Amino acid sequence: MLVSAKEMMEKARDGKYAVGQFNINNLEWTKAILMTAQELQSPVILGVSEGAGKYMTGFKTVAAMVSAMIDELKITVPVALHLDHGTYEGCYKCIEAGFSSIMFDGSHYPIEENIEKTKELVRVCAEKGMSLEAEVGSIGGEEDGVIGKGECADPDECKMIADLGVDMLAAGIGNIHGKYPANWEGLSFETLAAVKEKTGDMPLVLHGGTGIPEDMIKKAISLGVAKINVNTECQLSFAAATRKYVEAGKDLQGKGFDPRKLLAPGFAAICDTVKEKMELFGSVGKA
Ligand code: 13P
Repeated sequence: MLVSAKEMMEKARDGKYAVGQFNINNLEWTKAILMTAQELQSPVILGVSEGAGKYMTGFKTVAAMVSAMIDELKITVPVALHLDHGTYEGCYKCIEAGFSSIMFDGSHYPIEENIEKTKELVRVCAEKGMSLEAEVGSIGGEEDGVIGKGECADPDECKMIADLGVDMLAAGIGNIHGKYPANWEGLSFETLAAVKEKTGDMPLVLHGGTGIPEDMIKKAISLGVAKINVNTECQLSFAAATRKYVEAGKDLQGKGFDPRKLLAPGFAAICDTVKEKMELFGSVGKA
């Protein structure tokens, strides 16, 4: 059964670990992440960007696929199905489609409008028993057409949004979607500490989990990060494993072209990446 991410977040915050949000793109992605979470007895959040939702034919298809998979794979660990960087309209579509959690990314609105829209969604999500993530400051880079300048969040604005009663808060701290450039200055722990100071118990979310060095991940968790988003890294490992299979000519041998064979190395690579991240984030055995 799908659950809200609220309880997962509170337990992670109190236990000083982070729950991974892994973005999904198709059936293989979803199955790989769910099976790894079950094997490691870890709670997990499946992230769906609006672009990926569209690619999978729509949010209703996604919700139906994930719910049926949880049932047929006998997944017993807590799983939240979460809209990633949702627009205001996208949030309502996911609420209707049966998601258990949403992110409203109002970071590009003036703060007053971000507050107003987030406040309304806090009320709607509470009625439905869903969890809500909000954003202040922006995550740099581009993800599925969502482009951010990467400015660090204003801790006072974070407090205003946290006080509305959201379940988790994404604050820009110099993190970037996609690969980090060679001249990246690293996470701003100064900003993170200031946000934590202002927002108290609020579970914080670190986007752009791909490529952040281990020591920075650990420090971020120690400063209140309870959810870490990973997307690009699974895409890179899937692509590399698939490339290796094709370059070795395995698709041309016997029935190597069968999609169940062709996609198997990429599937296994996603499992390995998710496992590595869950171990690093400390969520193994926390289901
Ligand atoms: P990466 O693609 O950099 O891992 O970021 C994922 C993310 O933050 C999803 O919102």
